[in-house]
Order: sequence, then C-alpha cells, then structure tokens
Amino acid sequence: MPLRLEDRTGEQWFKPSRPHSLQLRQVVPKDVVVPSTVRVMTFTALLLDQADDGSLTSSITQVDDEQLPEGDVTVSVEYSSLNYKDGMILQGIGRLVRNFPHIPGVDLAGTVEASTSDRFRPGDRVAVTGWRMGETHWGGYAQRARVPADWLVAIPDVLSTRQAMAIGTAGFTAMQALMALEYRDISVGPDHPLLVTGASGGVGSSAVFWAGRAGHHVVASTGRMGNAQELEELGAGEVINRNNLGDPPQRPLLSERWAGCIDAVGGDTLAHVLAEMRYGASVAACGLVGGSSLSTSVVPFLLRSVNLLGIDSVMCPQPERDAIWQRIASVASEADTLTQLDGWTTEVSLADVIDLGPKILSGDVKGRIVVSTT
Ligand SMILES: NC(=O)c1ccc[n+]([C@@H]2O[C@H](COP(=O)([O-])OP(=O)(O)OC[C@H]3O[C@@H](n4cnc5c(N)ncnc54)[C@H](OP(=O)(O)O)[C@@H]3O)[C@@H](O)[C@H]2O)c1
Repeated sequence: MPLRLEDRTGEQWFKPSRPHSLQLRQVVPKDVVVPSTVRVMTFTALLLDQADDGSLTSSITQVDDEQLPEGDVTVSVEYSSLNYKDGMILQGIGRLVRNFPHIPGVDLAGTVEASTSDRFRPGDRVAVTGWRMGETHWGGYAQRARVPADWLVAIPDVLSTRQAMAIGTAGFTAMQALMALEYRDISVGPDHPLLVTGASGGVGSSAVFWAGRAGHHVVASTGRMGNAQELEELGAGEVINRNNLGDPPQRPLLSERWAGCIDAVGGDTLAHVLAEMRYGASVAACGLVGGSSLSTSVVPFLLRSVNLLGIDSVMCPQPERDAIWQRIASVASEADTLTQLDGWTTEVSLADVIDLGPKILSGDVKGRIVVSTT
C-alpha cells in the first residue's frame, strides 16, 4: 500500500458518505463494512524519501498509523537522539536504508500506547537503542513507532524519557565499552591512564563521564581543545590534542602509555593507540569517524599481549543489554549524575535534525543531542 501523507496534524475525521475520497479508498479494503464515522490517526514524523535519481529528501510530515510497520508494541515517542549513524542515514552514506519512504532515528524513548506482548502494558516507559531500528525498520524520529517487544527495555525509574535519550546509543555504547575493559581487569587509579578518543562527541563524552565516575584517570583526546574545561568537568583528568595520536605509528611499538582505551575514532588513530598500549592492556574499538581501515601489525598483540575488543551495541544480546542499563541506572542514582547529564545535552526539534545530520558527520556536534518529537 502506498504511503499516505497528510498535510494536517493530529487526528483526522471523515465520513464514509464520501467514498470517492482518495484517502478512504487507500486505507479501507473494499469488503470491510465502514462504521458511520472512521477515525484515522496520524502522527508527525521526519520522513526520508528517495527521488528517481537516487537523491534523498527529508521533510516533516504527517503519516497514517496504518503505515506503521509490524510489531507487538506501539509506542508514543517522546524523545529520540542524534547519533553518528543517524547522520549517515540522513545523508544516504553507506546505503544503510534500502526501502523508502523511511523514518530514521536509531533511538527512541516514550510510553507504551498498545501492546500484544505480556511484557509491556500501556503506560510503561520504554526505550529502544539499536536492533537496526531507524535503518531497516522505521525509527524514532516520529511521534509514534511500532516495534517488536524484544527490542524494548524498561526505562529505569531514576531516568526520565529525555535522560534515557541523553544516554541513548552513544551512552549505552560507552558503558558497554567500559564494562568490556573492566571484564579484562583494567586497573583503576592515577597511574593507570584510560584514553578516550573522539572525546567531545556522543560516545566519547559519555565514555569520559562513565569512566571518570568509575574512578579512572581519564585522558580525553579531542580536536577541539576549546572544550577542555567542559571535558574536565565531565570527568577527564587530562585533555590532549588528537593530533598527538592522529598519525600512523612510526614503529610497531611506541612507548607504553595507556592502561586502557575507549576508541570512537578508528583508522590511523587506532593504529597509533595500539602501538602505545601497555603490556596486557585492552582497547575497546567503538567507532570509525577517522576511517574504517586499520593498518597495523601483529606486534602489539604478540609482544605486549594487547587486546583489541570489538564493541557492537546494535545487536548486543538482551542479558548484556540489561546489565548495561542496570549499571547506567546505578550511576544515574549517584549524586549530581543527572545534573551533569543534562549539562552535556542539547535539545532540538525533529525539524532541526535535518540540518544537524551533516554536522555530526563533520565532527561539529558536541556532547549529546536529544530530539523532542512534540
Ligand atoms: N560500535 C557501536 O555499537 C557504536 C555505537 C555508537 C556509535 N558508534 C560509532 O562511534 C563513532 C562516534 O559516534 P558518535 O555518535 O559519538 O559521533 P560524534 O558525536 O560525531 O563523535 C565523534 C567525535 O570524534 C571526533 N572526530 C570527528 N571526526 C574525526 C576525525 N576525522 N578524526 C579524528 N576524530 C574525529 C570528534 O571529537 P573531537 O572534536 O573531540 O576530536 C567528534 O565529536 C562513530 O563512528 C559511530 O558510528 C559505534
């Protein structure tokens, strides 16, 4: 069925006495007896469409509920967020979206409106991160979404829906990376520097915060030294210019510096960092903003027992996902956490996202962006 778009907001009422209505013909099959008044619900969404020449257009528009994808749970979405992958999807990079029209948004938080699952009831506060939502399935840049119940997590009581999205995929990934380093017994304390690359971005700033809260001496690497004070307030013990790490290493092994690393950059930065890891230390590789190729040697692995840990938040299995959210909830219960979280969060509208897509790709976005759907 072709997507039907409205140019009005909210609910629309119309009578079956006008069977010539194009809208009614599209929504109701011929053999269905139509009640005297049919109530058609619509919702506001950021819709991505593809022209015949392959170019993409984004618009804020009205979409019918009937067009929502399959799923057990319908969510009234209050907030989404902006992540690097959202930028890629909005710009059509990597052909992540194959079916148009499409509603992007890899994260969402809101309240359950309807559910056929035993696990969730109307009124429950829920969030989705990952599972390729916003990519292969309509996502969170909309006032309403329908998703499989298995994708949902109950938002911890301590967090509002907005705060859950201030964390979102970036904050979740950063915590996943920290927990991966902890699982490999990373040492804590001033003599054990934990490097965070891409520190001003979503994953990086979240990693600075979570690791600082866990007692690590965090060294934040950034290309925007003007953000140094904010990064220190967030939890960095030291801030360094990313130029120090940006070139491929001159030798397979450089002086040992880092007890651990959460890397959002990849490329030559990751190759450089691997050569500077201390004996037995681990790098949690999360991102590729500096390039997806990795040109390195096996020497750090063989002579220093360095570990390269892959971090994927998207298909992260549910038990691990629950453990990560529990840890986030535990940190969120500590004094000042939520104040700090709010301090590195900027709220924007659905319409603002259209301009912000290219900006997150060029590294011009700071901290976390939450997207209000209202
Ligand atoms: N593995 C997963 O499950 C997962 C989940 C979420 C995100 N990611 C990936 O993690 C990365 C970061 O995502 P994000 O949402 O945090 O993006 P982001 O907010 O744009 O942050 C990226 C940061 O990296 C730095 N940067 C940008 N371009 C760079 C370049 N060419 N060379 C070196 N540093 C550069 C910038 O920080 P400074 O200005 O401070 O240098 C920028 O703010 C992306 O590659 C994303 O795809 C992966």
